[in-house]
Amino acid sequence: MPPVIAIQGLSKTYASGFQALKSIDLDIRRGEIFALLGPNGAGKTTLISIVCGIVRASSGSVTVDGHDIVSDFRAARGLIGLVPQELTTDAFETVWDTVSFSRGLFGKPRNPEHIEKVLRDLSLWSKKDSKIMTLSGGMKRRVLIAKALSHEPRILFLDEPTAGVDVELRKDMWEVVRALRASGVTIILTTHYIEEAEQMADRIGVINKGEIVLVEEKATLMRELGRKQLALQLNGRLHAVPEALQPYDLTLAEEGATLVYTYDTQGDRTGITGFLQDLSRAGIEFHDLQTTQRSLEDIFVDLVRQRR
Ligand SMILES: Nc1ncnc2c1ncn2[C@@H]1O[C@H](COP(=O)(O)OP(=O)(O)OP(=O)(O)O)[C@@H](O)[C@H]1O
Ligand SMILES: [Mg+2]
Repeated sequence: MPPVIAIQGLSKTYASGFQALKSIDLDIRRGEIFALLGPNGAGKTTLISIVCGIVRASSGSVTVDGHDIVSDFRAARGLIGLVPQELTTDAFETVWDTVSFSRGLFGKPRNPEHIEKVLRDLSLWSKKDSKIMTLSGGMKRRVLIAKALSHEPRILFLDEPTAGVDVELRKDMWEVVRALRASGVTIILTTHYIEEAEQMADRIGVINKGEIVLVEEKATLMRELGRKQLALQLNGRLHAVPEALQPYDLTLAEEGATLVYTYDTQGDRTGITGFLQDLSRAGIEFHDLQTTQRSLEDIFVDLVRQRR
């Protein structure tokens, strides 16, 4: 199936001369939740803004469901809902009016039932007649989401939707996102909460200094992450892993002075007890041990640091 968004050789140099994106290639799959992670200033908002037609690319191309975002802008933009990072709403309008108006901007016929559903899903129904300026910050963010959903987009961009949002709202929002995904909407989100990406995303992309440095299935990443290592500092040295310990995933390090056991924390049983018993039976003694585990956060920090 062709990607729902295809980004090729996309670069952006701002008028200041700063190059925010360096030849980005990225495909977004239909119906997935894609989490774009990256430190401040990495280029996440710039990338999203180009796809949504707010910022003009310096070079490269983007198609949205086959529509070029420049030559076929209206068709491309009509498929997209955008929840921007910055809170920008009309202070004096009511929630109902501002959300309904957004739908009209996309040339869609009025559909009060849809607007009502969106407001109810986002727990905004009781505020429908309130002026935006009387709402709390978290509620204003809900309004932004409602606006983005007003024209029934097939693709939803969420740029830092949960920054400064309380736990309750964050849960609500993720429920809405999951329901949208279940209805076939493709979701691209940025977040600084890596746990959130771990929980929500089907795939994870990492961007740093305007370059994509990793794109991976979350399940694959988690399988890697699920691995934990136990390093034993042996009393003696081993030349090879003893026959009796062959069933375990073992490697020797530091010229045979360290035995490293790699195991899967996702499994029900890690096998550590059995391993230590078999080790003792094989007459192998150790004087110290450490365990290590890489989290998505570690991988992220490594990727970003290497490229400083
Ligand atoms: N209008 C602009 N003119 C000049 N430089 C800009 C402009 N907008 C963004 N930049 C620069 O481009 C780089 C990328 O910014 P961008 O907003 O895309 O980052 P980001 O990944 O979204 O960061 P954050 O996590 O802080 O939201 C930054 O160095 C920023 O200062
Ligand atoms: Mg940003």
